[in-house]
Amino acid sequence: MDAEQAARKLLIEGKSIRAVQRATGLTYYRVRQLSALPRFQVVTKHNARRVFGYTDIHWSDRDEHALAIAQHAQGIFAPDVTVLGGDLLNCTAFSRHPKRKLDHDEGYDYLESELKPANRFLDEVQRWTRDETVLLEGNHDEWFERWIRNTEGAMGLQSLLPSRYLCQRDAFRYVSFSPGRDKRQCNYQLAPFLVATHGWCAPKYAAQHHLDRAKDISIIFHHTHRFDDRAVPLFRGGPIRATSAGCLCKRIPMYAHNGSPTDWTHGFWVAFVGRQSFTVYPVLIANGSAVLPDGTEVRA
Ligand SMILES: [Fe+2]
Repeated sequence: MDAEQAARKLLIEGKSIRAVQRATGLTYYRVRQLSALPRFQVVTKHNARRVFGYTDIHWSDRDEHALAIAQHAQGIFAPDVTVLGGDLLNCTAFSRHPKRKLDHDEGYDYLESELKPANRFLDEVQRWTRDETVLLEGNHDEWFERWIRNTEGAMGLQSLLPSRYLCQRDAFRYVSFSPGRDKRQCNYQLAPFLVATHGWCAPKYAAQHHLDRAKDISIIFHHTHRFDDRAVPLFRGGPIRATSAGCLCKRIPMYAHNGSPTDWTHGFWVAFVGRQSFTVYPVLIANGSAVLPDGTEVRA
């Protein structure tokens, strides 16, 4: 940082012209010139919350390379809060997916191939998170609970519910997918003007659909596995923004019978949340790497 940059920084921080002159060695006249340039009010200085977001992983159908890049990025970013956007698990055997393949369940072990490794993954995620880790439940994560409720004699397996098994940890929050009878909170409020959710719908142009429903609040959504980002002004205030960064599962899912390509993208998101505003960066993973907002390039 040269002397003039240092002077601008000190002036923005509210230092007097004399103090800046002494600190930088510039002339009084030059510092006064610099002080006349437009100043920006610093609402939060160094204390915007740093948030890292994992997109849909679908554990048994995860893309290991993309997930490894996201994990490296999380470690470098060192977030205060980490949000897992839902569908951490795939819960294949409990799906009622109309496209489910006949050989889907062969060799599938829910506990050993999904729940236990996902639990260890959460340990790692928490190791690189300063404050809180938030797991948004996705529709896939909820399938096991639906299966238990609808299968005779299965109620004894409740200890294997993701909402129980994965939650034996501190500084952790599990956000349900369905409101249920106890009116559970289904979204995570990052700030009064910003929520993160698994996803309210999955049509093409889902960002606009989420904005239509959000009305006057910005939203980070998942579920669609597609990159999508849209901001619109409000008549008073705003703009509001809806952002989706893609997914971390295979881009051709296991239920695709003919291997037809999808429009899914690999990515994760980071956000800086201040007291009055925020910036979200959906980060695409392309050609085996991703570039963070500070310019750091991450490879697996
Ligand atoms: Fe998903």
